[in-house]
Amino acid sequence: MDYQICDLAPADLGAAVQLLEALRPLPDSAPMEIAQFISDVNDGAIVVVALVNSSVVGLVSARVAGDRAWTQLVAISPQWRRKGIGSALARGLEGRLLHLGVRKISALLGPGEVGETALINRGFKPTTGMVLYEKLLSLEPGDVRIIDKWGGQILDEDLWDQAAGMEREKNLIDQRIVAPLSDPALAAQIGLRPPATALMFGPPGTGKTTFARALAGRLGWPFVELLPSKLSSGEGTLANELREAFIELGRLDHVVIFIDEFDEIAPARESRPASAGVVNELLKSIPEFRRRPGKLLICATNFVETIDPAVMRPGRFDLLIGIGPPDQTALTALWERALATMTTESGVDAAKLASQCHGFTPGDVDLASQRAAAEAFARARATGKAAVVTNEDLTAATNRTKASITPEMLSAYQAEVSMFERV
Ligand SMILES: Nc1ncnc2c1ncn2[C@@H]1O[C@H](COP(=O)(O)OP(=O)(O)O)[C@@H](O)[C@H]1O
Ligand SMILES: [Mg+2]
Repeated sequence: MDYQICDLAPADLGAAVQLLEALRPLPDSAPMEIAQFISDVNDGAIVVVALVNSSVVGLVSARVAGDRAWTQLVAISPQWRRKGIGSALARGLEGRLLHLGVRKISALLGPGEVGETALINRGFKPTTGMVLYEKLLSLEPGDVRIIDKWGGQILDEDLWDQAAGMEREKNLIDQRIVAPLSDPALAAQIGLRPPATALMFGPPGTGKTTFARALAGRLGWPFVELLPSKLSSGEGTLANELREAFIELGRLDHVVIFIDEFDEIAPARESRPASAGVVNELLKSIPEFRRRPGKLLICATNFVETIDPAVMRPGRFDLLIGIGPPDQTALTALWERALATMTTESGVDAAKLASQCHGFTPGDVDLASQRAAAEAFARARATGKAAVVTNEDLTAATNRTKASITPEMLSAYQAEVSMFERV
């Protein structure tokens, strides 16, 4: 079953105390820890909890003083240990503290105490003899302000594994982007320049945004999406805002800047003369951004052929990567994910369903699975009996769902790959 990590809501304080009560070694032992916890909460301590079906199964609390934080308490219900909750709590806490300007987190734990594995997993280092766990966050408070201003996030490294299948694309991104950026010393020794800019293109819903976020998570770099609609509405100011974004974000040691629907901001100038100001700005900003290593600009588009050719030239974009429709492995994983949330009859086979889904995007798989569920739901209401989603429901729903990627779109995409892809 899944758990959810979030801030302690006032309504959950009682449940949090109950968890601590249940964890007391002896029924009559002094509830010091509990009194301390309540007083910490009243003093504004940061408390992150793990919820399962809205009940509290784990919590971590920390007090903040200036740029330091002390982890006061790590508690996880015994039956929920060794499921990654500790690490997820620690990660949630780090995220919260980072935004409060904290640079160093310390935790004093007895050896073997709950939370030890989680802290070690999250890169905390014990100070020998004392078992004082400490971690220096990789961002300066000034950096956090810049990231917050532009709506940036630190994303989870698990996103990479959650993106299923797509071996070709994942290998390309891994070998050409993530590896050289993660190991700049080896790259420099060999004379490989890590990429600074990449454009991902392909039909809608094929995972471009997903891969951009996943690779930022893997690098552990802040992810900032620049939304042209949010930057500004007028053309002249959009160019200015872009310049400002590149200058400010360029000051960070590391950042992944993501611009989706890049065709909207960099269309061929002859077809959309009004956008010339923005395109000219990009032609200036990109080389400037590229001069300092450790940063990555990723753009994504469904319409690569409409982008201004000058913007795509080598020297501006290092890599142009086609992201194709989900392959069988990706479709199977998408079906497995959908089926896991439904009550199905036995013998339902994700791989078999996937084989009936040529040209499906993840959105299509979601639609087909919901249609099958709706069918079973209607049957349950009509008969008053418990119902399960049957193989027949699933096959019928899959047949009824139109593939978003038509054969024409697929061949257009393949032509684009042979024309534009550069890796
Ligand atoms: N390889 C994948 N494995 C699992 N889910 C995926 C994968 N690719 C895309 N998805 C899911 O499909 C949806 C659309 O993907 P998205 O990245 O937004 O596509 P795009 O940016 O190419 O339009 C998202 O909900 C995403 O989580
Ligand atoms: Mg997208």
